[in-house]
Amino acid sequence: MNSMATDPTIRDAADADVAAITAIFNQAIPDGTAEWTERLHTDDERAAWMRARLAAQRPVLVAESDGAVVGVASYGDFRDSTLREGFRFVCEHSVYVDREARRRGIAHALMDELEARARSNGLHQMIATIDAENHASIRFHQRRGFVEVGRMPNIGFSFDQWRTMVLLQLDLAATP
Ligand SMILES: CC(C)(COP(=O)(O)OP(=O)(O)OC[C@H]1O[C@@H](n2cnc3c(N)ncnc32)[C@H](O)[C@@H]1OP(=O)(O)O)[C@@H](O)C(=O)NCCC(=O)NCCS
Repeated sequence: MNSMATDPTIRDAADADVAAITAIFNQAIPDGTAEWTERLHTDDERAAWMRARLAAQRPVLVAESDGAVVGVASYGDFRDSTLREGFRFVCEHSVYVDREARRRGIAHALMDELEARARSNGLHQMIATIDAENHASIRFHQRRGFVEVGRMPNIGFSFDQWRTMVLLQLDLAATP
């Protein structure tokens, strides 16, 4: 058993990671449940996303195992906190792990660091918006203390299906 695989390094993403990050997000697109797009994204689009996150002082973290990037996690605004500053203490995150590296605690390691960053940046609530059929992600977030606070039936349409969004919330101020 590879000891690094169970103990990834979590670090801030660098420009050199963009291709690996794009590949990890794109890998989940055909599943239909994660990104609600039918189109693979380009490295340029992902680089622009990363630049915007970093410019807004938002973390983009990667998990590295045996020299390879195997996961990514980041958060951004839940709703526009520049125009509506009442939302400035809440964020919405995403966490993605390479299919070959799942069930080894990599998402937990990424989220441990992402939640710590959110707390140290003064945020109070963290929101996960998850397709109702994405049972792995719902289970994962519940295990971390996220609580379902809402369901929006048939709000998305992707791969010829109406899709329901589940909102789960973590009270960062009330959890360690
Ligand atoms: C959800 C996801 C990030 C979990 O990553 P991971 O590295 O496999 O998760 P970890 O190993 O850290 O945590 C595993 C825990 O999550 C839950 N979990 C993960 N995959 C699961 C599955 N297929 N079925 C049920 N529970 C699952 C379990 O509670 C599990 O704990 P256990 O192994 O003790 O049973 C990963 O499946 C993924 O990248 N999915 C595609 C992208 C996605 O949907 N991202 C979330 C969008 S909001």
